[in-house]
Amino acid sequence: MSPALYSAAKSVLFQMNPETAHKVTLWGLRLAEKMRVLPLLMGEVPSDPVEILGMKFPNRVGLAAGMDKEADTVNAFGQAGFGFVEVGTLTPRPQPGNDKPRLFRLIPQQAIINRMGFNNEGIAAGVENIRSATRFHGVLGVNIGKNKVTPNEDAAQDYLTCLRAAWPVADYIAINFSSPNTPGLRDLQAAEPAARLLASLKSEQSNLAVETGRNVPIFMKVAPDVTDEQIAELSRVFLDEGLDGLIATNTTLSRAGVEASPRREEAGGLSGAPLTARSTEVIGAFASELKGRIPIIGVGGIMSGADAVAKIKAGASLVQLYTGFIYRGPDLIRECVEAMKAECPVNS
Ligand code: FNR
Repeated sequence: MSPALYSAAKSVLFQMNPETAHKVTLWGLRLAEKMRVLPLLMGEVPSDPVEILGMKFPNRVGLAAGMDKEADTVNAFGQAGFGFVEVGTLTPRPQPGNDKPRLFRLIPQQAIINRMGFNNEGIAAGVENIRSATRFHGVLGVNIGKNKVTPNEDAAQDYLTCLRAAWPVADYIAINFSSPNTPGLRDLQAAEPAARLLASLKSEQSNLAVETGRNVPIFMKVAPDVTDEQIAELSRVFLDEGLDGLIATNTTLSRAGVEASPRREEAGGLSGAPLTARSTEVIGAFASELKGRIPIIGVGGIMSGADAVAKIKAGASLVQLYTGFIYRGPDLIRECVEAMKAECPVNS
């Protein structure tokens, strides 16, 4: 889509409250896809193929989790030019999420604060939606979480339930244990609980691989609000337990860069431009600990092709967009793919 056309659409969408705008956008994308006009609207994205963990990506720019929470817009996002699509977060049982309003734009800062709280219809409904996305032929990640009411001691059961349910339809499964909007969730990122959780997931992964004759890689998604010591500890856990892939990062609790915004006091995770540098720093720190043994998906504040290139140079193999896609529109996908192709070609 040309930047001018997106700019016009955005000026209408930004008149609506953010959650309504989100619903309208997804509805519009589904409609355009059904009418077969989406490729025309979205424009060409150059091909930049790469194979990672046996998955073949047409390009290295994916849609981050949280945009298509219910996995009901997969056909459309697949045709928007993304090299891969991550749906969810999906939890075992449906849950309404936090009270509204829970999504806020910080326009001068090119940022968003959200405290959605895993609003979703549950993993079974999500899997059903994925099964009906018959026009999607790309790489699909399913991002899973625990229900709010599940205590952390029982969190592994929630993740295992979702892992089993998502297994037949997922190309990879992402473990979200870093959302700031489910109370206590981030405590699972401490070395011991993280090791226990990953060990049970890896054991179930082996069982399922034998049962089904097909393996599905497991990714874990981390927060940017971690110390260097935590990064070192978590990296040891990831290497010891055989994590397949890492996603860095989720949203931040920091308010650095948005001090001037009247929205800064809203509870929730901050994403977009204020997160760019910190997320890249965390990717770099994990990359140096993991020494290329675990591939990294870099996400957090990619607002330009240069930001995507910086993530790859820091050690990511793939990147994802969320907030940048809202502010810049689909042209950002093309810009990122072109910049990465030019400045960090796949086999360099
Ligand atoms: C998110 N994000 C997110 N992540 C996740 O793993 N599960 C989720 O359900 C959500 N939900 C969600 C909702 C909203 C409104 C936003 C803005 C973000 C986090 C997202 O995937 C990404 O990690 C961060 O937003 C950082 O990237 P950007 O947005 O700065 O490109």
